[in-house]
Amino acid sequence: MLKHHDKIERNSVLLLILTVIVISIGGLVEIVPLFRIEQTIEKVEGMRPYTPLELAGAKIYKREGCYGCHSQQVRVLRDEVERYGHYSLAAESMYDYPFQWGSKRTGPDLARVGGKYSDQWHTRHLINPRNLVPESIMPGYKFLIERDAKISDLATDMEVLRKIGVPYTDEMIQNAVSDAMVQASSERESTGLINRYGKKVNTRDFDGNPNKVSEMDALVSYLQTLGTFVDFAKFDPILKKKEK
Ligand code: HEC
Repeated sequence: MLKHHDKIERNSVLLLILTVIVISIGGLVEIVPLFRIEQTIEKVEGMRPYTPLELAGAKIYKREGCYGCHSQQVRVLRDEVERYGHYSLAAESMYDYPFQWGSKRTGPDLARVGGKYSDQWHTRHLINPRNLVPESIMPGYKFLIERDAKISDLATDMEVLRKIGVPYTDEMIQNAVSDAMVQASSERESTGLINRYGKKVNTRDFDGNPNKVSEMDALVSYLQTLGTFVDFAKFDPILKKKEK
């Protein structure tokens, strides 16, 4: 093999042809599994699309670049599972466009942060992280509590997401604005919202200001859902494989 390498290195055309062959193999190995993506993502119970308010929160998360410091993927390693909880499943980010797995952890992983803290904790932390964690280097996002969440264009966002496979129904899209307002309040009638998204949906005044639907309401509602859709007490990947 090494003997022939001499020949390859002196003949640029041969080098080019062999390089193309090697790169094509690598390409095939990466691309072919994508054609079978439907089978790659295991089906799990509990996954649902984000409600309009949570979707608004997910947009703020992306806009503010939280991704730059926080990953959303618990890896299959013992130290991670002990710290954050059950490792992440592919299905858990099936409705995230784009997914927020990330590769940088200046702060902790957030894949399972939902339900870990109270809404009040998140709001105070986001206003100024030093309020709660004196040594924190996370920036403050005080403006979120002052700004109205942009809920008027959520229906359009949902239509676009439906085109790429998120199962939003006509009814969900038509009710986008009212559902967002209902979810951010503890006093409004929420039967419609719960019928559409399930009874596990958190409906309450997340930021403590009942007079408006702020960006803080949206972001906290999103954070409180992270990693909570799948009930891991009932999830058994080995059992699922046997059934097939
Ligand atoms: C410059 C890096 C940086 C950015 C940007 C950043 N964070 Fe953080 N975050 C941290 C660090 C460091 C911690 C750990 C200290 C603390 O709790 O404040 C943290 C902690 C957190 C926690 C608590 C996690 C836990 O399990 O204790 C949450 C929730 C959080 N960040 C949300 C956000 C959100 C939402 C955004 C975007 C609006 C964001 N962070 C942007 C660095 C960052």
